[in-house]
Amino acid sequence: MTRAGVSLVIILGIINLLLVLFQVSTGKRWLKVNFIWHRRLGLLLLFTAIIHAILADLSH
Ligand code: HEM
Repeated sequence: MTRAGVSLVIILGIINLLLVLFQVSTGKRWLKVNFIWHRRLGLLLLFTAIIHAILADLSH
């Protein structure tokens, strides 16, 4: 599955990497945002990582 020629697995992988960086930065409080965003985006990351893994498995 591609979007503008780029695989959805790749797009989700990049989103997951950015979300992990956000989670560690906010969890360690290097980045100061309302902590509710750490909890919300941590759960979003769980789902995007599962979708990423399923699509990657289906695609080969
Ligand atoms: C993959 C997802 C996540 C990552 C990578 C992550 C990462 C981290 C890190 C690195 C810390 C700091 C730990 C420390 O310095 O001892 C932290 C703290 C914390 N995280 Fe997460 N987190 C994630 C998801 C979540 C979620 C889903 C929740 C809650 C629904 C959550 C709640 C908390 C809480 C309550 C703390 C303690 C904050 C404090 O020191 O007061 N995290 N997290």
